[in-house]
Amino acid sequence: MRFKLENLTRQFGSTKAVDSVSVEIPAGQMVGVIGRSGAGKSTLLRMINRLVDPTSGSIQFGETEISSLHGAALRNWQRDCAMIFQQFNLVPRLDVLTNVMLGRLNHRPTALSLLNMFSREERLMAIAALERLGIEQTALQAAGTLSGGQQQRVAIARALMQAPKMVLADEPIASLDPLNAKIVMDALKDINEQEGITVITNLHTLDTARNYCERIIGMAQGRVVFDGTPDQLTADAVQEIYGSDRHGAGIDETMTSTTINIPQAVVANSASRPAPYRPLAAAEA
Ligand SMILES: Nc1ncnc2c1ncn2[C@@H]1O[C@H](COP(=O)(O)OP(=O)(O)OP(=O)(O)O)[C@@H](O)[C@H]1O
Ligand SMILES: [Mg+2]
Repeated sequence: MRFKLENLTRQFGSTKAVDSVSVEIPAGQMVGVIGRSGAGKSTLLRMINRLVDPTSGSIQFGETEISSLHGAALRNWQRDCAMIFQQFNLVPRLDVLTNVMLGRLNHRPTALSLLNMFSREERLMAIAALERLGIEQTALQAAGTLSGGQQQRVAIARALMQAPKMVLADEPIASLDPLNAKIVMDALKDINEQEGITVITNLHTLDTARNYCERIIGMAQGRVVFDGTPDQLTADAVQEIYGSDRHGAGIDETMTSTTINIPQAVVANSASRPAPYRPLAAAEA
């Protein structure tokens, strides 16, 4: 199904958070959106999911104009494009299994869900989703007691329960340590490859975007300033996306990388050590 944004714009006061963005994304693509803080990455994803309404422009999925949906049709769309957030957005006091089954909310009458009357089929589906993400042993634990990496995997399992056509992930690994970041990115990639689900993910680390995404969209000040493959993302393109710092110095790609740099002296003294671990993603808390 064709997914197309045309001149999509969102203004907040005098700020154009997203400014005339036009892109077409074929079904099944894994797309990374990169750019400085404030470039408009989150606003773009939130407009696609209709958490934020566009000021102008259009979002088309097949023949459907997404920007004018409301009521049940809008809820169906929001089910079709599952959101994954940096802060997981689970219900911390509910157990993991229930959190995952909440992904079915838009598939059934709400009253039944609120009464916690999930069907046997739904329970089995939720367990299968947890197994797929390697966290079935946490099923009965309160979600809030899990590690960040585990919580994000629960969020992905919940998204899978929506049977989405598209997964929109807003900095899904920004709160995770490198190992968990890799597990979460691998899970997104796996869903993309096995189910053919389109994944659009905002990332603030270039190396992650390069490693996982077949297409990278670079944003600066609300506009798309790069759209291409990782190979096409040259130093000049990186410069255009991230710009110069206020002293006029160009940016160095390592600034947006999370590779752990082990001092040379340490490496020299450890001939028998394995190769330095090169994580794929962010390590900030
Ligand atoms: N609800 C809002 N009200 C007012 N301004 C907003 C709102 N949401 C976003 N903005 C502004 O729109 C611009 C783009 O913000 P957005 O959050 O989309 O950027 P981002 O690329 O996701 O940044 P970050 O990497 O920090 O998450 C920023 O200038 C921001 O201050
Ligand atoms: Mg953001």
